[in-house]
Amino acid sequence: MKELLQELRKSALEAMAGADSLEALESLRVKYLGKKGELTAILKQMGRLPADERPVIGQLANEIREQLDEAFESRCKSISQMLLEKRLKAETLDVTIPGTYVPIGKKHPLTTVLDEAIEIFVGMGFCIAEGPEVEFSDYNFTKLNTPEGHPARDRQDTFYFTDDGSVCLRTQTSPVQVRVMETSPPPIRIISPGRVYRKDEVDATHSPMFHQIEGLVVDKGITMGDLKGTLDTLVQRLYGEGTRTRFRPHHFPFTEPSCEVDVQCFECGGAGCRVCKGEGWIELLGAGMVHPKVLEGCGIDSTVYSGFAFGIGLERMAMRRFNIRDMRLLFENDVRFLSQF
Ligand code: PHE
Repeated sequence: MKELLQELRKSALEAMAGADSLEALESLRVKYLGKKGELTAILKQMGRLPADERPVIGQLANEIREQLDEAFESRCKSISQMLLEKRLKAETLDVTIPGTYVPIGKKHPLTTVLDEAIEIFVGMGFCIAEGPEVEFSDYNFTKLNTPEGHPARDRQDTFYFTDDGSVCLRTQTSPVQVRVMETSPPPIRIISPGRVYRKDEVDATHSPMFHQIEGLVVDKGITMGDLKGTLDTLVQRLYGEGTRTRFRPHHFPFTEPSCEVDVQCFECGGAGCRVCKGEGWIELLGAGMVHPKVLEGCGIDSTVYSGFAFGIGLERMAMRRFNIRDMRLLFENDVRFLSQF
């Protein structure tokens, strides 16, 4: 019996040392040390032994149980340690590997300039109004005091949808003035950015599609002084404090008086250079006091209310701001160009 026990010890120790998973180890424990295991099976036969051998064998059996328990525990620990190391190795992060490049887009220069302008106007209490790009000629022209027969309505200038010329692609954002005045009573203080269309040949300074920002203020007692203050504020904010403006008389059918506003050349400070073509001034926008006929046409009493309006070309603003020489670059959408801004 002693031999049996020693053999069991030997084979159990060997088997445990060779176990390479916790599951395998556990089944060895059951096999050797479990209630129905081999050690128990041997001990069951103790009854057959002569009485004087029993304590000796009993003691040996206890020794073996303890030894195997210890072997089990220590193998259990080393397998767990091994598994942990394996996992750590497999899940190691190499923080020096370059990450996957995710290109992030950026604003188009026109959007950048528009957002800046919106911020400036919203800061002065303006709201944003929108109007359709496909517009009735009535709104684009007639209600803006530009009757049939006016040169601006020429088929050479305007994209018409219908033979009778009643629907067109708006040539300016000014029809939004009419739409706002027809639907909301003064006081009115809005800007309206958007696309406009004209039959222009494409070149460095022309495109058949471009953008304007319309501005309109109508209230009691609005004067040219308010117009000047508003546009001066815009220019100072856009081009820096101390930047000067020049108001030149001009003609628009829907404003009276009308003017064009120039800004002192940011490049040469007014001395005259390539950028301003020797003028010292750069044309920025058209503006004026809303014509009484236009106010009346929208149901606003021109003896009580007055207003001013202006229209800024967004492309011009962006070209000036980013020193872009050719308008076509703004529309070609070449990422190599656009990513510079
Ligand atoms: N709509 C005019 C244009 O496109 C600009 C303008 C707007 C002038 C408002 C006066 C008042 O040229």
